[in-house]
Amino acid sequence: MTNSANTVSSPGVYLSEELITQRVTELGAKITVAYTGKPFVIVGVLTGSITFVADLIRKINLPMEIDFIAVSSYRGETTHSGEVRLIKDVGHSLEGKHILLVEDIADTGWTLQYLLKLFSTRNPLSLGVCVLLDKPSRREVEVPLDFVGFEIEDHFVVGYGLDYAGLYRNLPYIGVLEA
Ligand code: IMP
Ligand code: MG
Repeated sequence: MTNSANTVSSPGVYLSEELITQRVTELGAKITVAYTGKPFVIVGVLTGSITFVADLIRKINLPMEIDFIAVSSYRGETTHSGEVRLIKDVGHSLEGKHILLVEDIADTGWTLQYLLKLFSTRNPLSLGVCVLLDKPSRREVEVPLDFVGFEIEDHFVVGYGLDYAGLYRNLPYIGVLEA
């Protein structure tokens, strides 16, 4: 198949659109129970969480505020430099609010560790973490995960917000890139 135009082969399905919808609905219900009576702010981590956040918030039956933060993770020669840089901060003051961080995937854990440290300096009432995907076999630093969509094996996955070299985010399912 040609790569010259915007035609690329589709990755194989790993988690189908139907399965993701079902799991996101379950997570929304759990979050609804957990945050009832607690005014909270969802903070999505750009860019990978956009699809997840968009679907998840419609499955949470509570009032909430929504904000986004952008970070970039640097990978050295080994994959674990652990250096994370803040690209765009949230627009809200988080003091005295319950915060639920929403991220696409917990891989090494460095990104979430950075974000948890950053937010803990801002005196939130509580700080929770929700990830769509968790790759526990890749973890280098421990991070507490309050809500997890799917625990997955060590595959490089794309789609439903996740990218490879900036592409595939718009796939409606999660696929594995063939080596
Ligand atoms: P961590 O800091 O190693 O936990 O990496 C988290 C970030 O790496 C995620 O927010 C993703 O942007 C990216 N990432 C890790 N694993 C994958 C993957 O399998 N596919 C796409 N992006 C990934
Ligand atoms: Mg990311």
